[in-house]
Amino acid sequence: MAMITADPKDVPHVAAFAFTPENLAKVKELVSHYPPGRQASAVIGVLDLAQRQQGWLPRVAMDEVAKLLDMAPIRVYEIATFYTMFQLKPRGKYLLQVCTTTPCWLRGSEAVMKACQQAADGTTFSVQEVECLGGCVNAPVVQINDDFYEDLDEASITRVLDAFRRGETPKPGPQVDRQTSAPIGGATTLRGE
Ligand code: FES
Repeated sequence: MAMITADPKDVPHVAAFAFTPENLAKVKELVSHYPPGRQASAVIGVLDLAQRQQGWLPRVAMDEVAKLLDMAPIRVYEIATFYTMFQLKPRGKYLLQVCTTTPCWLRGSEAVMKACQQAADGTTFSVQEVECLGGCVNAPVVQINDDFYEDLDEASITRVLDAFRRGETPKPGPQVDRQTSAPIGGATTLRGE
């Protein structure tokens, strides 16, 4: 099982980090959304850009973000270590963020987590336990990179992971017969009858 942690022994040394010119332009654009002197308000967006460029957030990337936003590095570390959206060590191609908070747990997240843990090899898949992803009505939910896969059970998460292994991108959203969070089998009210 490959869990994403901030344990220093798991973090490879990265000597330097610099934004690409394209991403530097995006940083400037993000900062322009805030009043002069409030550039630190862009920190989450700028950290996200750094992570998308590098694949994860080495300390040198956090230091570069601190420098660009005129922040004390510790303020940036505090943010990067608080939010589970930031990975503090390299991860597999697909990050499986498995929600195990109460609604997902009541709907079977333990079996979903087990299937994800069995798939996690640290190269293709990494797994991370997260708190509520805000999709409880479609519990249990797993976020895979930027997409939510919902209404899962052991069989459907296994199908989704197998598809990723084959190089496909399975359709995100509910993995049962329902439209978004509408009732399974279709509308039960306001059907115009
Ligand atoms: S409890 Fe899992 S999405 Fe809210």
